Amino acid sequence: MIDQIKNLRIEIEQALNAVDTIESLEKFRLTHLVKKGTLQALFDQLKSVSPEEKPLAGKEINLLRQFAESEFKSRKENFENSAQSSPDIDLSLPGRTGFAGSIHPIRQTLDEMVAVFESMGFAIAEGPEIEDGYHNFDALNFQPDHPARDMQDTFFIKSDKELLLRTHTSPVQIRVMQSQKPPIRCIMPGRVYRNEAISVRSLAEFHQIEGLYIDKNVSFAELKATMMVFAKRMYGENSKFRFRPSYFPFTEPSAEMDISCFLCGGKGCRVCKHSGWLEICGCGMVHPNVLKSGGIDPEEFTGYAFGFGIERVALLRTGIDDLRALYENDIRILNQF
Ligand code: PHE
Repeated sequence: MIDQIKNLRIEIEQALNAVDTIESLEKFRLTHLVKKGTLQALFDQLKSVSPEEKPLAGKEINLLRQFAESEFKSRKENFENSAQSSPDIDLSLPGRTGFAGSIHPIRQTLDEMVAVFESMGFAIAEGPEIEDGYHNFDALNFQPDHPARDMQDTFFIKSDKELLLRTHTSPVQIRVMQSQKPPIRCIMPGRVYRNEAISVRSLAEFHQIEGLYIDKNVSFAELKATMMVFAKRMYGENSKFRFRPSYFPFTEPSAEMDISCFLCGGKGCRVCKHSGWLEICGCGMVHPNVLKSGGIDPEEFTGYAFGFGIERVALLRTGIDDLRALYENDIRILNQF
């Protein structure tokens, strides 16, 4: 009898190990736990067992039955729980990762430029992209018949030339001067528009960061030093720069700053128009007429202003050699930044 019980225990353990579905568990119950099952059959045999063997045999069968029943119960609960939570989900599958966006190279460049200027004490100001002719031109000392107006081909919104898409961030200078008192030390990032043929080097829509510093006794030397500190922080101590005299109606004197071309290392290529240099910023001392338009007395205050094109700087940082690639949103390019 004791041997029979041992054998049944082995059989039951094996059967339990093989249970992998709710159906096979049910089969286990029908084989072992019902009235006509193996355990009850053993109990029935107890009657014919000798009185000496009976107590031990009875105890062993009871233990085996408790074991089989509790195993059955816990397996059943497991099946029911997993069925409740997710009938069609395979929890062993690897997870799906979401698509994380990344920061566009233009925005990365802009953020970095802004951080450098912020560390030098510049605050941020913004103005509208749809501007009026007064802020975009007149207040910046463009005379009505001044040939300088032709320098910047403009998208006009109204045929009377009153509303336009701003051609530069300089109109924000006027808005800042009209709303703040000197000392003013601001940068003004934003999008600008020009009616230009789209090419490797120019787009009809791009970004600038304008800078403005107005206080007593501001000098051109301070402007130059600020530009150099900024350029070295952005491009490294060893980058090469140069200042050229230039002309803008709203600054006097005016200059442009160039950086040696990143692509050809200064030898000359299509990106730098074979000059070896790339213009990255226009700058100068704020024209007295502009200070007057902004309500600031040019006898008391002087100031400098500058304007950087952001796309040009983004090209220098990323090594992309075609401005258009920054706007085509080709995921194979954007993925790299
Ligand atoms: N607004 C000028 C441009 O778009 C750049 C500039 C800004 C020049 C400030 C001088 C001072 O080209």
